[in-house]
Amino acid sequence: MGYITKGAEIELQVEKLAFGGKGLSRVDGYVVFLDRAAPGQRVKALITKKKRNYAEARVLETISRAPGYKPPACSHFGVCGGCFWQDISYEEQLFWKKAHISECLEHIGGADGVNVEPVTASPDVFHYRNKMEFTFSDRRWLLAEELEQDFDQRSLFGLGLHVRGLFQKVLNIDTCFLQSLDAGAILGEVRQWAAASGLAAYSVRTHEGFWRFLVIREAKATGQILLHLITSGVPEANERIDLLAAHLLSKFPRITTFIHSISQKSSQVAIGDSSRVVFGPGHIEEKLGELRFRISAHSFFQTNSRAALELYDTIVRLAAFEGSEKVWDLYCGTGSIGLYIASRVKSVIGIELVEEAVRDARQNCILNNIDNCSFLGGDLKDVIAKASQTGRPDVVIVDPPRAGMHPKVVKSLLETLPEKIIAVSCNPASLARDAALLLEAYDMGQVQPIDLFPHTPHLECVVRFDKKR
Ligand SMILES: C[S@@+](CC[C@H](N)C(=O)[O-])C[C@H]1O[C@@H](n2cnc3c(N)ncnc32)[C@H](O)[C@@H]1O
Repeated sequence: MGYITKGAEIELQVEKLAFGGKGLSRVDGYVVFLDRAAPGQRVKALITKKKRNYAEARVLETISRAPGYKPPACSHFGVCGGCFWQDISYEEQLFWKKAHISECLEHIGGADGVNVEPVTASPDVFHYRNKMEFTFSDRRWLLAEELEQDFDQRSLFGLGLHVRGLFQKVLNIDTCFLQSLDAGAILGEVRQWAAASGLAAYSVRTHEGFWRFLVIREAKATGQILLHLITSGVPEANERIDLLAAHLLSKFPRITTFIHSISQKSSQVAIGDSSRVVFGPGHIEEKLGELRFRISAHSFFQTNSRAALELYDTIVRLAAFEGSEKVWDLYCGTGSIGLYIASRVKSVIGIELVEEAVRDARQNCILNNIDNCSFLGGDLKDVIAKASQTGRPDVVIVDPPRAGMHPKVVKSLLETLPEKIIAVSCNPASLARDAALLLEAYDMGQVQPIDLFPHTPHLECVVRFDKKR
């Protein structure tokens, strides 16, 4: 493979989609991963990294389009890191997502002949997200055409999403096709107000500057919007933010809660060291089916509300509850899965790390007149022993973060040995890794992927495991 060297330009045929949404090509069996490539495309590419077993490359030019090509809807597509695949038809995206989960379960999970059901499509393909995080920047990303124009320094103020592959660079976003049009209008208004405020955006180079992050969260069923603004601390911060909040409320009556947090951390995460509710109750309310859910700024909630309902119905279908089951809902967030299944089982114990989410979960029980669910706060690997004191569960539902379950949690499950485990995951690779461990004592049953994240490589999946006889 002598001619594949760093810096070389070669022509490649994209065979399929690989982990993380990259395209995969082979040259005489040698694998080349391509950023921004769709299966079926023929491209001219630049080799950016060369290793013994594989190379990485960047597409320079499309020689022929993929059969599933679709013109992207969004003007930011290609530069913005929010979407990967607006240029592939939705049907094609679902086809490749199914292929990817099958491959992970077989190769990483060691599950032979696994039968993956077709991916359940998201009810909304655009404007489906109920939460997005935007970053302020003192030096926003300039497009090639802007670089050719004269611009003054003030126009470098940015608020938007990261440039694809460049986490430190922020692209100004006008209309985002992942969130609602109202959210886009709020984003534009906050950017304009902040840029004119005389206070600087936070700089990742100097770690100075006031404006840091804006999180827009909206309940799809009730229409309520929660804004969470994160800034660094300056003496007059509260007065400034009160003015901004009043301005936004007068323009956007859908905003029902505004939270201001101050962060002095240098790490780029949209979490504050201290928070203040500027107006509203401090949370919004979402509805899934007949149930109401209170969601606070720091609580996890599935980001695609309408597809979350499909997800929870899938959990109910795969678990096939009979009514007498004691269930554990592990990594339970605001308790949404537990509350959704509560009327179909005897009891539910939920466990969750984030205190605010545990508070929301308890409030959500009251809000929905549910009395057979209880919640424990803390790190699951430590708290799971406490749940064991209440006896063995019949069914355990696990829905861990992207990294998957802690090995100690898997070990506890293999000691507890519930009849059924329903594994919910947003990361096929970590799901497959955890599945490989569970297969020691469980048989893998139905596998139902659900697309909660159109135009991105992410995929939600529900897998049923039955205790071996
Ligand atoms: C993918 S979310 C699932 C939430 C919930 N099941 C739902 O459907 O909304 C994962 C949850 O695990 C929680 N979490 C992360 N690490 C944890 C840990 N070590 N112990 C307990 N919970 C944890 C997160 O705060 C988050 O709420």
